[in-house]
Amino acid sequence: MDKKERYEIVLNQVKELTSGCDDVIARMANVAALLHHTFGFWWTGFYRVSGEKLILGPFQGPLACMEIAFGKGVCGTAWKERRAVVVPDVEKFPGHIACSSESRSEIVVPVWDDGRIVAVLDIDSREYATFDDADEFWLKQICNEIYLNISKEAKLII
Ligand code: SME
Repeated sequence: MDKKERYEIVLNQVKELTSGCDDVIARMANVAALLHHTFGFWWTGFYRVSGEKLILGPFQGPLACMEIAFGKGVCGTAWKERRAVVVPDVEKFPGHIACSSESRSEIVVPVWDDGRIVAVLDIDSREYATFDDADEFWLKQICNEIYLNISKEAKLII
């Protein structure tokens, strides 16, 4: 099965998962698990926007740094520049935050709600150049599901 076919299946699974639960943390948790175990990534998880920082959210993989400042690292850059960031070699990304010395490449995709970035999805690989435009395309669609049809009441909980 190629990458596109896998992502098509994963996106459908994500739609089912998210439609069954009105809670963004639960959605993030299962999306991280699904992506991590389908593709065998090294680290897969979310950082949530909290004031001027990103705070570690649901993830799969080894321990990670818990706070990232606005504009710092790949995650903070994606947040500041309001775009997905694909890094083929983390050592060549100025300011990369090495939570794990095993990471070689990385992708960070913003999670949007009502025109605001509310979180980022961060995925690390132990191989160089794992991520490309296709990953960005599919992961953006997956991230769009996180806040889809979340009620106002559920948003107030976090
Ligand atoms: N490498 C990220 C930090 C988070 S860990 O990879 C889980 C960054 O530079 O923002």
